[in-house]
Amino acid sequence: LKAVIYTGYGGPEVLQLVKVEPPSPGDNEVLVKVFAVSVNDWDWSLMNSKTFADRLMAQLSKPKHRILGSDIAGRVVSVGKNITKFTAGDAVFGDLSGAWGGFAEYVCAKEHQLGFKPPSMSFEQAASIPQAGMLAVQGLIDKGKLAKGEKLLINGAGGGVGTFGLQIAKSMGAEVTVVDSREKLGMLQELGADHVVDYKTQDFTLLGKKHNLILDTKTNRSPFRYLRALTNTGRYVTVGGSLSRLLQCLLAGPFISLFSKKKVRIVALKPNKDLDYMSRLFNEGTILPVIDGRYTLEEVPQAFSLFAEARHKGKVVITVANPEQPT
Ligand SMILES: NC(=O)c1ccc[n+]([C@@H]2O[C@H](COP(=O)([O-])OP(=O)(O)OC[C@H]3O[C@@H](n4cnc5c(N)ncnc54)[C@H](OP(=O)(O)O)[C@@H]3O)[C@@H](O)[C@H]2O)c1
Repeated sequence: LKAVIYTGYGGPEVLQLVKVEPPSPGDNEVLVKVFAVSVNDWDWSLMNSKTFADRLMAQLSKPKHRILGSDIAGRVVSVGKNITKFTAGDAVFGDLSGAWGGFAEYVCAKEHQLGFKPPSMSFEQAASIPQAGMLAVQGLIDKGKLAKGEKLLINGAGGGVGTFGLQIAKSMGAEVTVVDSREKLGMLQELGADHVVDYKTQDFTLLGKKHNLILDTKTNRSPFRYLRALTNTGRYVTVGGSLSRLLQCLLAGPFISLFSKKKVRIVALKPNKDLDYMSRLFNEGTILPVIDGRYTLEEVPQAFSLFAEARHKGKVVITVANPEQPT
């Protein structure tokens, strides 16, 4: 079967399309024919592994998992003897982070890593949801406790988390300010953003506007800078960004809560927890995934280039195979 592997650390040039042995499912696994897979920041950081922490996660000298790709959508081909939830032919999607293997025609997954894909959702739309959708839900609702009528700001809103987060927040009745580069602001307004800030010309923490909640995908400032843009009881929630800034949030968070009513929180992704919730929002018409490009397996390096240069809008998705063709 065809798969995209990486054999060393670096940019998109370390990716190669090769033939590998087909995986065979263990007793607790499901074999999935992959129709679509999306690119995540986690794939990029494992492959690019510039920092020691990234290398530790990817296993120091050489990559442990040769095939990246966590967010997949496809059809169940066969199941191990202990699998009860799925049978051959089921359309599924989910986040395989930790095991990876999605940039391939077939992949094995554990039962808890998959959910049923709604019939009206395309495989590409399904592959765009797992990581970004879970981070948006867990950031806005679980950690952020967003309430109707509140003022929300999303920093780095033009990618996967931000485009889902914006749509969810609008459906909850929030007033949403989005921060990203000028090229992405029109798309975000079409998705319902009330106010836009171009981070290349303005620093939202200096505009004097206070928000009940800030959802951050970039975390490129000290936590104290963000406090300036929060109301007295405001919450700052980060889903990711620079490791040193995240560490500052971890250390400063309890200290800030001691001396004020403001909160600083970090989302630790709970993979696949809210797949059914996202499916419900999709079926109701509350969210429509924003998909940038439909690349083929051969074009995975180009897809990573687009992602690495942050030229993408929403999610970068790879179409691996046509679901209409026989397995
Ligand atoms: N917490 C966890 O357990 C966990 C798990 C997995 C992933 N993550 C993290 O979750 C995040 C994923 O977010 P995502 O998928 O939405 O990322 P994304 O698709 O890369 O989107 C980020 C957006 O931020 C914009 N941006 C870049 N620099 C900016 C700046 N200085 N100010 C404002 N916006 C800026 C980018 O566009 P331009 O460059 O064009 O402006 C892009 O539109 C990543 O940080 C990832 O590491 C966390």
